[in-house]
Amino acid sequence: RSHSSLDPSIPPLEPSFAPSYGAPNPEPEHIQKLISHLSLQPHVEGGYFVETDRDALRVPNPFTSVDTEALDGTRSASTSIHYLLSPGNPLGAFHRNKGRTVHTLHHGRGRYVIIHADEAAAPHLPGGYGSDKSNLPEHERWAGKARVEVFVVGTDILKGERVQWIVEGGKYKSSFLLPDEEGGGESAGLLISETVVPGFEYDDHDFMKAERMKALVSEAQADEMGWMLRK
Ligand code: GUN
Repeated sequence: RSHSSLDPSIPPLEPSFAPSYGAPNPEPEHIQKLISHLSLQPHVEGGYFVETDRDALRVPNPFTSVDTEALDGTRSASTSIHYLLSPGNPLGAFHRNKGRTVHTLHHGRGRYVIIHADEAAAPHLPGGYGSDKSNLPEHERWAGKARVEVFVVGTDILKGERVQWIVEGGKYKSSFLLPDEEGGGESAGLLISETVVPGFEYDDHDFMKAERMKALVSEAQADEMGWMLRK
């Protein structure tokens, strides 16, 4: 196969840097300095993060969830983090959150893959289901039908790379490091900021599992994205 089953205009999704799956590989010195200067910690998704802001303002929790930190039914109005993908820790594995996340690039390049598992059944897609299927279990309603979006984040804005991107709550997200230059092998790391509104609670976090991915996308797509699941 010479092109992606997700987007015929791009080659198949493959890692540019070997995924480390929870055990970061040794980092170049400039990455080590960045990690220590920003006090970044390994994230369970992969990559590194630090929470940089948690709004003292509490707002009513709009989600149906059991919040361990907010038994009074409120949560922080917003939270922000720095997030880094690096040569030694280059994959953010598929997961979803409940809040809407605004991402802003600081430096580096990466590819994002979004599985729109939350969208209403899409009758405009070939073979899409009509409203008569709405009472089927979720995995049957959706089999092979979830819209998958792929885009590059980076500073080459005129080539279509994004410096700001929004991921709505309920969508599955994965990201992986790309070389700074197209076709090159080097990366100084992909450093971004993320702001979640209303604020992040750990209970919101939900990893994609292989079975669910198989239920949401085609077999070819699930094969192509298998390496982006948490191992
Ligand atoms: N703690 C663990 N993961 C996260 C995250 O993604 N965001 C925030 N704000 N805190 C976290």
